[in-house]
Amino acid sequence: MRTEIIRLKPGSSQEYAVKYAAEILRSGGIVVFPTETVYGIGANAYSADAVEKIFLAKGRPHDNPLIVHVDSLDSIGLAADVDSVPYEPLRKLWPGPLSILLKKNHDISPACTAGMDTVVVRCPDNDFAREMIATAGFPVAAPSANVAGRPSGSDVQDILAEMDGRVDLIIDAGKSRFGIESTIVDPIHRPPRILRPGAFALEDLENLFQGIVQENLKVSGTGQPLTPGMKYRHYSPDKPLYVGTSDQIKELNRSPHGDEYAYVCSRELSRDIQGIKVELGSRNDLYEIASNLFTCLRKLDKVPGKLGVIESFPERGIGAAIMNRIGKAALPLACTGQT
Ligand code: TXA
Ligand code: MG
Repeated sequence: MRTEIIRLKPGSSQEYAVKYAAEILRSGGIVVFPTETVYGIGANAYSADAVEKIFLAKGRPHDNPLIVHVDSLDSIGLAADVDSVPYEPLRKLWPGPLSILLKKNHDISPACTAGMDTVVVRCPDNDFAREMIATAGFPVAAPSANVAGRPSGSDVQDILAEMDGRVDLIIDAGKSRFGIESTIVDPIHRPPRILRPGAFALEDLENLFQGIVQENLKVSGTGQPLTPGMKYRHYSPDKPLYVGTSDQIKELNRSPHGDEYAYVCSRELSRDIQGIKVELGSRNDLYEIASNLFTCLRKLDKVPGKLGVIESFPERGIGAAIMNRIGKAALPLACTGQT
């Protein structure tokens, strides 16, 4: 398969690219497109054949369902049973980085929902994405644009390295705004729960979903995973990666093993340590850290050092999403026996 790339120029018309991408989707192809969170690999959510191409391109296990994207709240009925839709909060949150678990509309292909009778739906805050979906005329299934198990794609160079020859078209709109995936909320069960923390934090949702709770999302636990995706290894660079506090990392850096590691850390910690460093941004701006996280996890594999270590951040606001992703990509530093 030959992969075409269209680069969107800020401020100029996107009409041609929108029509072209929608045409590929209509003919059963798959398209990498921008959203405000990360890039998605889109296909017609009504077509089992088209959706199957996404699973193939990503090497994604078939029991891990895909998020379905709509162009507006008005078209949510194309993806979900409208009786299950909490319209009031969605009027405030959409378009935006919030995905919602609903009862599935029968037209959505079971391939998309891994045979379940629920579907996760979202309306992205990105003009290109919404116009493409509207022009296609059907909801668009789209997981993050990366090989299964790898960090999500928030930068087209990274995506191209993994997806060249596996998708029909890539729409390049520059670096993703948030760089971390949407928050997934389940409003069906009582109390409503956050299934995956994301760009919207618990604090942003508390007034909109009465009694909403953030489940303990640490991966190590036993029992049923909250979303099928949770049982799989995620966001992983090739280098073994550990996570520690800035104090633990400073101590490691001074130890005899210090030079075996590459350090993925904030600008502030970077000033206090020696050696190979990959900078995430300022500790005081967790949005900056989030937007650089996946690109830095990929950079880690390109720099010297046998092992990697990444700094931990406070779990407030978007920090909960950052730590959720780091928790899946890394083991606690204590596991090395070197601290
Ligand atoms: O920001 C985002 O949400 C991005 C952009 C492209 O929109 N998409 C994304 O999709 O992160 P993906 O496939 O990488 O993650 C979807 C997650 C998976 O963990 C999956 O298990 C869960 O949503 N999920 C999807 N449908 C579900 C369902 N019916 N019930 C429970 N979990 C579901
Ligand atoms: Mg993903």
